[in-house]
Amino acid sequence: MLNDAFHRRDGALWCEDVPLDALAEAAGTPVYVYSAARITENVARLRAAFDPLGAAIHYSLKANANLTLIRLLSEAGLGMDAVSAGEIYRALEAGVAPERIVFAGVGKTPQELAYALDAGIGWFNVESETELRVLDTLAGARGVRARVALRVNPGVAAQTHRHIATGHFGAKFGLPPAVVADILARHADYPHVSLAGLHVHIGSQLARPDETVEAARAVQALAAPYADVRTLNIGGGFPVEYTGDEGYPGPQAFADALAPLLNGWQVKIEPGRSVIADAGALLIGVLYVKEQGGQRFILTDGSMTELIRPALYEAVHPVEPLRALPGDVSEAVVAGPVCESADVLNRAAPLPDVQPGDRLAVLGTGAYGMVMASNYNMRVRPPEVLVQGAQWRIVRRRETWDDLLALERDAASK
Ligand code: LLP
Repeated sequence: MLNDAFHRRDGALWCEDVPLDALAEAAGTPVYVYSAARITENVARLRAAFDPLGAAIHYSLKANANLTLIRLLSEAGLGMDAVSAGEIYRALEAGVAPERIVFAGVGKTPQELAYALDAGIGWFNVESETELRVLDTLAGARGVRARVALRVNPGVAAQTHRHIATGHFGAKFGLPPAVVADILARHADYPHVSLAGLHVHIGSQLARPDETVEAARAVQALAAPYADVRTLNIGGGFPVEYTGDEGYPGPQAFADALAPLLNGWQVKIEPGRSVIADAGALLIGVLYVKEQGGQRFILTDGSMTELIRPALYEAVHPVEPLRALPGDVSEAVVAGPVCESADVLNRAAPLPDVQPGDRLAVLGTGAYGMVMASNYNMRVRPPEVLVQGAQWRIVRRRETWDDLLALERDAASK
């Protein structure tokens, strides 16, 4: 998982031109660090693959919605994929033009739909007929026409972790093909929406482009009778090599597999993970080391409250020491202070002899890291740092206990 951005110099771990041990010393641990250069490279890779298809890229904000990162990605020319009115609020705050935002989500509230209509959001990805009715009514009341892509559930079971597969009929997402066909045939029932596209997203960390092709074909068949339904949003899901030996296809493989289908279609993609995962690392400090049950436990100040992916998806994120540490490497359990046996960041990290005070990096944590952080055990969420060349700056400060109590104090004093 080391890459151009997170690399070793004289044995020590650097991000771009910043030595990470010094950064961690100054910013404190735990702390998330992102490489601007790596984000830009990832965007360039997606563009090289999908620009030839004329695809518009809408970055999936759910992967990491830090304001500074949104601004950076927006300035790089990306639109946004929002999954709540709160994400839309963030994107607008970061200066994203509303028409470049697509609004997805299986359970948008009427208030969220109204907010998005008032903001002038570009597209609504609609996932039930009742939602379509609500949107139509709200749009009618405002004298506007909402542009809609119906989200199709194509019945394709993607080969990925069961928690992040979304395209099979057992999942809550999308509309069955027959229902989509029926709604398209009754477009006139919804005079205040323009049914101009179809949307499909079969899951995240997708191992095989042919499943995405199968889904796209199913969706195209539904649109075929309607010459005005020619926007196809194929979602995100492009995988990331976390451990480096998974053998996942890159975005180019997906683009190549899809290219023969997409002539004459306006294409959209919604990548999240592939933009930001390997551009981020969580830096943590070693508190204690102990042997137990034949295992070496490295207890750190980082935990499942900063990074829940290992506990939730059995995700494997490589752990690397920040300083050059000589000596043999053996497997260790890297765990946090939270009162849960699930609070393990890596169950078998090959690491040298680390001691209290040493610092480690948990790699590949730019996506679905900070956004899924919690305050469990009254832990404050960590700061976020953006590295650009030899410069780094805090783009979100560490929370304080007072930040957390502010929402309760008034009530408690009565
Ligand atoms: N579009 C839709 C409709 C989605 O539901 C998602 C992700 C994306 C795009 C972006 O997918 P990506 O390119 O990032 O794979 N928390 C999980 C991942 C949840 C993904 C949810 N939907 C994890 O940490 O693996």
